[in-house]
Order: sequence, then structure tokens, then C-alpha cells
Amino acid sequence: MNTTPILRAANIVKKLGGKTILNDVSLDVHKGDVKVVIGPSGAGKSTFLQCLNYLLPPDSGDIWLEGNKVNARDTKELCAFRQQVGMIFQDFNLFDHLTAEENVSIALRKVAGYGKAEARQRAMTELSRVGLAKRAALYPAQLSGGQKQRVAIARALAMDPKVMLLDEPTSALDPELVGEVLSVIRDLADGGMTMIMATHQMDFARALATDILFMEHGKIIEQGAPDILLAPGSGTRTSDFCGKLFDMRGPDKAPSVSELLTGDLSHDITDDGSESTMTPDAPKKD
Ligand SMILES: Nc1ncnc2c1ncn2[C@@H]1O[C@H](COP(=O)(O)OP(=O)(O)OP(=O)(O)O)[C@@H](O)[C@H]1O
Ligand SMILES: [Mg+2]
Repeated sequence: MNTTPILRAANIVKKLGGKTILNDVSLDVHKGDVKVVIGPSGAGKSTFLQCLNYLLPPDSGDIWLEGNKVNARDTKELCAFRQQVGMIFQDFNLFDHLTAEENVSIALRKVAGYGKAEARQRAMTELSRVGLAKRAALYPAQLSGGQKQRVAIARALAMDPKVMLLDEPTSALDPELVGEVLSVIRDLADGGMTMIMATHQMDFARALATDILFMEHGKIIEQGAPDILLAPGSGTRTSDFCGKLFDMRGPDKAPSVSELLTGDLSHDITDDGSESTMTPDAPKKD
């Protein structure tokens, strides 16, 4: 068995505003892992995800992709690394003046060297994969939050990432739009995509995560399979934290995983019946 992690972070330290935000964080991620990062606000989850693809350069520590240490001083190498580690943000980060298709194809043209027609074709493939081929010509302002987030996911997928980092991808969405984005993420996980995701959707995390990482005060203080960390009576910080999240929502308001995943893509799919669906065996990128 090949045990080289697809992504390895070792001893990451990050200071911001004179404060140590990440305090010696290390993590190994293997192919197909779905690592869910949870923890209180301010724990350093977003900072950690941003350090993992050098959006925020760590003050110290190293990152390896498939056993190769990233040399962040080499701009070309850094650019190649970032292409392989896709990032999804809470607030989508789409270009407002570009259509959905252009938002996906622009990096293909500017960064990956695709020609115009080829980039458009690939963008359409990825938009179909997230159920949005019919919305390709629309601008972000004409899309719902869930649709915008799916465009952002299509944009990341178009770069053939080896790992996807997702920072609370559903927390800016109206509740009725959460499911359609979770469905896409679930299908990526089912298709073997390696992911590290910060989220408060604990029912979803429990169903999908290979591991939960609990962060507090800039450190990963617990790490393990959801069944173990969340087992009744386990006495873990993870279990305590999730119990409090559940109490805050109240049992009446807590949707089940299946309710979360009823994310309705039908309006995207059935209006002409021509969209690809969100099944795990949806067409794969080459
Ligand atoms: N640019 C900055 N300058 C100074 N401090 C910062 C900066 N960015 C983040 N911080 C601080 O770093 C800490 C960790 O922030 P981070 O956004 O990583 O937390 P988080 O776990 O993602 O929280 P949340 O659950 O609210 O998203 C916080 O105390 C935050 O105030
Ligand atoms: Mg955050």
C-alpha cells in the first residue's frame, strides 16, 4: 500500500496581528480522505485552510504534495501547487462581471493554457457536473447562492485538483439552498475526491467524514473517525462541542442528513431534461 500522503502539513505556525493563530499544526491527508475541521469561532480553521494552499504563507512549517515539498519562493512552483489544491470559500468569490461559464473557463485559459473553445467545452462539462449547464450564460447576480457556490465548485474542479479545501461552503446560504451544495460535495466524496472541509453541518460531517479534526486555540486537539469521536459517552471535546451545536439549533430545527441532501437540483435539471445529474458516477473529468 502506498502510504505517502497526498497532502502533508508539518509544524505550521502562523502569526497574525502579533498573535499566534496556528500553533504547530501538522496533518497528513491521504487520497480519498474527507477531513472535516470543526471547532469554535476563532480557533484558526480558516487560517489553517488558507495556509494549506499558501494563500496565507505560514511563518514556519512545510507542506508536501504527493511527497514533494512545496518551495513557496518559486513562483512557478507555487502556481502549479495552487492549481492542484482547489479552494472553495464561504462567499463564493466569483467574478461578478463574468458569466458562470466565463468564471469557470477564465483560469483554464489564463493559467492552464487552454484555447478559448477548449476552455469553454471543459467549463460546460464541469457546469453540467454540478447541474448548471442551463445556467452557463447567467451572471452571478442572476444566480441563487447555492448556484453560485456550485459554479465556484465547478471552477475548482476544472483545474483537476488533487485536493479540495472547503471553508464553510454552505454557511452563507439560505437553509433551503444548503442541500443542493451538500449534494454536490457528497458526490465528490463518493467519487473519491480528497477534501478538507470546515463546516458546522455536523450531521453531514458525521455521515461523510473519514476523520473529524477538532481545532481550538490554533491547534488540532482531537482527530479521529466520527463514530469514535462522537460515540455516546466518549467524553471528547468533539462530542461536547457537537452536543452544544445541536442544543443551540434545538432538536426541532435540526434537519436529518437525508433532509439536508434533498437539496433540490430539479429546477436545474428538469427544465429541459438535458442536464447531467448529481449521481456519484456522473461523468468524470479526464
Ligand atoms: N488578518 C488578521 N489579523 C489579525 N488577526 C486575524 C487575522 N485574520 C484572522 N485573525 C484572527 O485569527 C483567529 C483565527 O481566525 P480564523 O478565521 O482562522 O478562525 P475560524 O476558526 O475560521 O473561525 P470561524 O468559525 O469564525 O470562521 C481569530 O482570532 C481572528 O481574529
Ligand atoms: Mg472560518
